[in-house]
Amino acid sequence: MKILAIETSCDETAISIVNFKSKKTFELLSDSVLSQIEIHKKYGGVFPALAKREHVNNIFPLLLASLKKAGLLEKRKNPPDKVGSKILKKLEKVLDRDENNLENIIHLLKTYKKPKLDALAVTYGPGLEMALWTGFNIARALSLIWKVELIPVNHMEGHIYSSLIKKESGKNFAVEKPQYPALALLISGGHTELLLIKKEGQYQKIGQTLDDAVGEAYDKSARLLDIAYPGGPEISKLAENFKKKGATASLSLPRPMLNKNNFDFSFSGLKTAVLYLVREQKKINQKFKEELAGEFENAVAEVLVKKSFKAIKKYGIKSLIIGGGVSANDRLRREFSTLAKKENFKLFLPHKKYTGDNALMIALAGYFSFKNNKYKKNVKKVEGNLEL
Ligand code: KG4
Ligand code: ZN
Repeated sequence: MKILAIETSCDETAISIVNFKSKKTFELLSDSVLSQIEIHKKYGGVFPALAKREHVNNIFPLLLASLKKAGLLEKRKNPPDKVGSKILKKLEKVLDRDENNLENIIHLLKTYKKPKLDALAVTYGPGLEMALWTGFNIARALSLIWKVELIPVNHMEGHIYSSLIKKESGKNFAVEKPQYPALALLISGGHTELLLIKKEGQYQKIGQTLDDAVGEAYDKSARLLDIAYPGGPEISKLAENFKKKGATASLSLPRPMLNKNNFDFSFSGLKTAVLYLVREQKKINQKFKEELAGEFENAVAEVLVKKSFKAIKKYGIKSLIIGGGVSANDRLRREFSTLAKKENFKLFLPHKKYTGDNALMIALAGYFSFKNNKYKKNVKKVEGNLEL
């Protein structure tokens, strides 16, 4: 089953084309991510109107390039002068906010044959609504002109599947199978949550952040140290330097909600504590930054590891799946790996290439929800606050 997947929920425009052989293996025909990080850096975060503009400008060229790379772009021998009025009306309705792409889609329909695709998967939430609409509307338009099924995908479910991707050789990949009950720890710029998964595709949220997400705490703390957005990777580097030196931190940060008898998190207090330490400090030099970053990661790791482990014990968890941008963090990867070995559960971490937003994970989540007949039909709008 060939699926073309589109992801535009935040600051990455991504398209993947995947040929699924079964639930266990697939061939990756094309996989592209256009990052807008450089554009948003100046603003200290993702600026929604700018994100939308970039998605709108980039998505069609990326679509053509992806189809071409997958060997699915074939010109018509006798291109028609115009398209039927019925389909045109439908397209005008779907792409009414995006005239350029209306023209682009009409051009695609007139110039190229229908590619051999079986379905489209697209992120319809959660994320920035302005950004989500671009990918969602293009996907709807494509499903109209090609007459293929549209599978709306939850971005966070995508992050879960990103951890199950295993590269074999060349274009060939395997999908790893967790043992159930499994636990998913999703840690990104917008989310921090623990989900209990009793069986494939069935999610029950058992805990979440009450305020900031972990990634947000990283980014906000980084900003207090004059580190550009997104600050997570840089804080992580500083912390790793501190760790290498083998010193223990002389300053201390709180471990929010660590001893609360639930699975919720809170990270805004951590950021505020960073703010106070930065204010008190006379000289913000490299040594201070490294020490602060080191202690910041001590706090984050302790809270995430201990809370996850509490859930692992309570629910008899056999597999822990970690996903989302913050899962790129080396400290967390090490600590969870050590815990998994010691406590004898299986750990699934995404390959570093797939920790951030990408469309391959959307293709996977789409394929599994199609196979399990668990996807919503006739979705007509995006949902910025969509829950799993
Ligand atoms: O999943 P993602 O790419 O986008 C969202 O859906 O939010 O996550 C982005 C977040 C940002 O907050 C970024 O600072 C954080 O992931 N991040 C990291 C690292 N790499 C990215 N945080 C800690 N350590 C890292 N190495
Ligand atoms: Zn994400």
